[in-house]
Amino acid sequence: MKSSTKVEFGDFQTPLALAKEVCRLLRRHGLVPQFVLEPTCGGGAFLVAAAETFPHATLRGWDINRDYVQQATVELQRAGASSRASVQCQDFFAHDWESELQRMPGKLLILGNLPWVTNSAVAAMNGSNLPIKENFLGLRGLAARTGKSNFDISEWMLIRLVRALRGRKASIAMLCKTATARKLLRYAWQNEGRISEASLHRIDAAAHFGASVDACLLLASTGFAGPMEADVYESLSAAKPAGRIGLAGQDLVADIRTYRDLKHLEGLCPFQWRSGVKHDCAAVMELRPVANGTVENKLGERVELEDNYLYPLLKCTDLANGHLTPQRLVLVTQRGVGGDTSGIARSAPQTWRYLQSHSDKFEARKSSIYKGRVPFALFGIGEYAFAPWKVAVSGLHRPARFQVIGPFQARPVFLDDTCNYLPFEDETSARLVADILNSQPCQQFLQSLVFTGSKRPITVELLQRLNLSAIAYKAGYGQRWQTLQRVHYKPASNAPQFELAMESEKPARRSHPTKSVPVSYAHARRSRKKPHKITTA
Ligand SMILES: C[S@@+](CC[C@H](N)C(=O)[O-])C[C@H]1O[C@@H](n2cnc3c(N)ncnc32)[C@H](O)[C@@H]1O
Repeated sequence: MKSSTKVEFGDFQTPLALAKEVCRLLRRHGLVPQFVLEPTCGGGAFLVAAAETFPHATLRGWDINRDYVQQATVELQRAGASSRASVQCQDFFAHDWESELQRMPGKLLILGNLPWVTNSAVAAMNGSNLPIKENFLGLRGLAARTGKSNFDISEWMLIRLVRALRGRKASIAMLCKTATARKLLRYAWQNEGRISEASLHRIDAAAHFGASVDACLLLASTGFAGPMEADVYESLSAAKPAGRIGLAGQDLVADIRTYRDLKHLEGLCPFQWRSGVKHDCAAVMELRPVANGTVENKLGERVELEDNYLYPLLKCTDLANGHLTPQRLVLVTQRGVGGDTSGIARSAPQTWRYLQSHSDKFEARKSSIYKGRVPFALFGIGEYAFAPWKVAVSGLHRPARFQVIGPFQARPVFLDDTCNYLPFEDETSARLVADILNSQPCQQFLQSLVFTGSKRPITVELLQRLNLSAIAYKAGYGQRWQTLQRVHYKPASNAPQFELAMESEKPARRSHPTKSVPVSYAHARRSRKKPHKITTA
């Protein structure tokens, strides 16, 4: 099979030994299915393992790939299970799942390993192995356009299965990315998915699939709603859970027990967290100072630029490693989102010429947020970005280490978009807030919220949930906090709407921050084969 086809169909065949280990775990959990469905069965490892573990079950396998269908049929013959098994060439996206599942009687187990590929990866290769084109989770505006609408095909498939099983007692056992398992549970718990019980059992994806991703077996029982919590086991053989995740409000938390103990530390942050400046053109915009006022860009070009648009820059690794003396500069072309950049031509002609000479690179910026903007537009920019003091944290590193950043060579230091920060006018406030954030109760609370293996564990949304006041009192900074509050505190109703990751295009009028994007599940039409619709719960 061509490697591009393998990618488009998320083709990572499960080794038979792993499929057998999964089935043994299911039996330990008391599962005795009468009907086993492998919806994307590949070469049939799970069907063969199920044939061995559940000798009385009827087995059905589907896959879009004819060669695999043939291979799975042969493997089942070899396993002596062909009389109770059938394998067919079917497209997951073309099923009327509600009717199909009704035709599968008795205790049903949906077992297997769905394709490991994202919708954007399939789209990037002009592939068609996709559900209908849609804004999958109902995201709006920048959130959708900055990649939050990117989803795993397996997430879509799992949600489709859970929806089709809403009124039916059944079991799902699927290998998937741990992040996908969490998203499915979050979706189900928020949308009456009626999951009565669930658990996650980690697997070593590097060893089994050669994939460096946090993966697990997701085990879920459907039919009626149970506690919105799931045990997490460190391996398929672990007898006791290592932790318990759960839904807290609109969000999943990594350690629901600690979260409950420290829940009083959650609330509205009186300050507005920001994410750093976004330009998507590091080759041109990020520079290193070299001798005699000359700077060098990432393309190795040395240029002389006026210093009025150049600011010191720190990145997430600098914050995480405590390297707080800026070694880089960034060109800041605007003072706020949408600001005019043409004035640079007059105030800094060399800088303008430099930018112009690279306009092709700006025009080639992939993100659609730049479409229709002035040349050399930025995001994550506003007067706050020019504040002299900042309390900043890497968005990509755990544990969260909050650093106080002051001016460097009399210029405010900028952070890039892998960082989050609070701006301050004075050092005293910044130091106090950093102390509060680095305090033991705050760190413990953050740890209960954040998942290991998340690509961006520390987000603006997460930070905005920290009730700095409650944490300050808990951490013994109550008196200092009171003084600061007198100077700075703005009641939440006056605070600006906090953003998903950066500025919204139009200033929002909402007076209260919302905690997270509401998840809806509305779909349009699928263009090929039998179209189907999933409507909002
Ligand atoms: C990750 S592999 C897993 C295969 C098998 N479940 C296993 O555990 O070995 C994903 C499988 O999904 C199949 N597949 C991809 N897209 C599909 C679709 N739209 N409908 C049905 N099968 C699909 C691929 O051919 C591939 O065999």
